[in-house]
Amino acid sequence: MSDLLELEPYLDMGEIQGNIFEGFNKDFQAFLFFSYGPQPADLTPVRAWISGLAERIAWLKDVVAFKKQFRALAAGMTGADPGPLSTCWINVGFSHPGLARLHGDAAQFDDVFRGGLPSAVGRLGDPKKPEQRGHISRWLFGGRDSVPDVVLLLASDDEPKLEAGMLAEREKATAAGLREVHTDLGRDLARWNVTPPFPSGHEHFGFKDGVSQPGVRGRVSSAADDYLTPRPAAAADPGNGIEYGKPGQALVCPGEFVLGYPRQSDIDPRRAAYPYELGTAGNGGKIAGPAWAKNGSFLVYRRLAQDVPAFNQFLTRQAAELAKSAEFAGLKEDRLGALLVGRWRSGAPVLRSPNNDDETLGTITGSNNAFTFATNLNSQDGYSSAPSDPEGEVCPAASHIRKVNPRGLNTDQGGPAGTLVRRILRRGIPYGRPLPVGALSDSASEDRGLLFLCYQASIRDQFEFLCSSWANDESKPTPQLTPNSGIDLILGQSPRGDRVRYLMLGEQRIETRADEEWVYPTGGGYFFAPARDALVNVLGAALVA
Ligand code: HEM
Repeated sequence: MSDLLELEPYLDMGEIQGNIFEGFNKDFQAFLFFSYGPQPADLTPVRAWISGLAERIAWLKDVVAFKKQFRALAAGMTGADPGPLSTCWINVGFSHPGLARLHGDAAQFDDVFRGGLPSAVGRLGDPKKPEQRGHISRWLFGGRDSVPDVVLLLASDDEPKLEAGMLAEREKATAAGLREVHTDLGRDLARWNVTPPFPSGHEHFGFKDGVSQPGVRGRVSSAADDYLTPRPAAAADPGNGIEYGKPGQALVCPGEFVLGYPRQSDIDPRRAAYPYELGTAGNGGKIAGPAWAKNGSFLVYRRLAQDVPAFNQFLTRQAAELAKSAEFAGLKEDRLGALLVGRWRSGAPVLRSPNNDDETLGTITGSNNAFTFATNLNSQDGYSSAPSDPEGEVCPAASHIRKVNPRGLNTDQGGPAGTLVRRILRRGIPYGRPLPVGALSDSASEDRGLLFLCYQASIRDQFEFLCSSWANDESKPTPQLTPNSGIDLILGQSPRGDRVRYLMLGEQRIETRADEEWVYPTGGGYFFAPARDALVNVLGAALVA
């Protein structure tokens, strides 16, 4: 087999930024957005800053080693906090304008990345009218005239360490002539001093987040079975051949997330496809970027405000309405929320616990993700089995998690392997002080929401596809459902910005309409997270073609 089609290739641990495959997963994160300043400018100090930055970045090898050590220490300390090991990690991303000013070959990136988020607002269904909140003219940064050149990502479990890291990085950047144009501070909501305390790992509407991620194939050493994603389950779905790391964690080839590696076949879950072409010397395939984009990944950053009272008011009002129907008699707002997400607030999947939240199930890694929508999965862990639900009678076809990951189902794209090539690695974190779960008002009208981040090899075929072709299209991803299943009411935008937001619930397919929006964009951008070699020898180098 050619190396280009290797299913479990060796991953270049010293080259790939750590947040991409491994995820920082830290309680405090800061995102510092900079501009190089007006043109023309001598970018020599910026280049020196970039090559110096390469020394401070947490690469995949650092993050993997740290996490191993952390786990060992935590185990040895019988649950005590292994505080001495806390650290502040740094990663970086460049927008297309930021790359184009450093290297002419940046023109080889595809048009979606080149156009950036300002060109994508129409495709994503963002609000169209300037008077609407979420309209690009009202963004805090990343609008048409305010695309930053570079973003620094800093992460720590220790707030003072994060603050010290921010101070140090600001000093270095400013000394190199960079201007900070925006800062976002993310924080695990359990780290706010509020009463009652907010649960850790949950987003502002109260739902556990970060449960389901793809498992990335590939090896981290020359040993044959030293995989990046451990394989305790080592099982394949008999129905469709998808292989898993943990239950529900479908394995996907690394080229779907980082350039230069074999991609996932969209026909056979256990086969690789050729990597994206890089550089101009390709043999006719799609060119994803210049040769130096190898080991790099595209980062989508969306600052999504969440109107928590509007969401909860909708649940209260609509639950009362639905409770009048025979199928949903007695329906409470918590269950309606679970139907919109596809999971209860604890993280328990609706498919495994249709009528009530099950907080224990929600917290058990693996059990909380063991379902496919397509095949009946018999229980192996003492919880209810997960039925097949092709029509969305138990877990609505337009629920958030089903829209963006229809798992084992056939879709308008073909068989389930066609869904593997749409997966993204989510790395988001909430910002802003939480309201109590279920709150119906906010006297202080504070800004809060999700700093949504995801990495992928193609923004067009992954993030944008999920938003515009599946979440916002009432007839997809599951074809042949009559009537249409509706749109994803959690992800936020209305389809094409002006049509009714609705979804179908239950066996009777009762329509639920939402006149208001509770998630809207307030900034963001498309960035590229380069490899170490690109930082040191291309973008940071003094002499550039
Ligand atoms: C404020 C906006 C959002 C909220 C509150 C939200 C919330 C959630 C929650 C509660 C889950 C279930 C837990 C989990 O599996 O991690 C989830 C899953 C997911 N979300 Fe979002 N989300 C938001 C925006 C987005 C956006 C913009 C995308 C982009 C496509 C997205 C893609 C996903 C994906 C891929 C999953 C995993 C589905 C699975 O594999 O089962 N989300 N989200």
